Amino acid sequence: MSTDSTDGAAERPTEEITVIVNGEPVTAEVEPRLKLSDFLRYECDLHGVRVGCEHGVCGACTVQQDGRSTKSCLSYAVQADGAEIETVEGLAEEETDSLHPIQEAFHETHALQCGFCTSGFVMATKELLEENPDPTREEIEEGLADNICRCTGYQNIYEAVERAADAMED
Ligand code: FES
Ligand code: FES
Repeated sequence: MSTDSTDGAAERPTEEITVIVNGEPVTAEVEPRLKLSDFLRYECDLHGVRVGCEHGVCGACTVQQDGRSTKSCLSYAVQADGAEIETVEGLAEEETDSLHPIQEAFHETHALQCGFCTSGFVMATKELLEENPDPTREEIEEGLADNICRCTGYQNIYEAVERAADAMED
């Protein structure tokens, strides 16, 4: 634990945390009030983590924590100490320079307009398909119910999930 007294502000406590982010350990001194979403965006430079409502409603900030979808605006970075976090940036295959099948499917079905919600949908889809590799349309709707898109009408998003499921089955 140390303190930060920049800008003459009252000294605030900080805590050292180490989080495995997209496979790499990241150690940082953070204030206990720093949200996980802000840690990922500003300390790790992962702007694919979007912040919409900051109230756990929209799902734009969805990442995977220890393999489960989590809304990163609803937890603090200190709570992720020692955890493995995967963001949308961790999905593409760097070695082969290829997108993850879910990203590919979203691209192919034009499952986005403004794209603000997309990384959250992609990460939620990842957990959905890991748990249920061949979901029905109803199960897809249910599985993505925690994510809100304001501009696609969802049809193409659901089609993208079906397409990704097929691709991942092969
Ligand atoms: S920004 Fe986290 S749920 Fe909306
Ligand atoms: S693509 Fe615009 S909010 Fe979803």
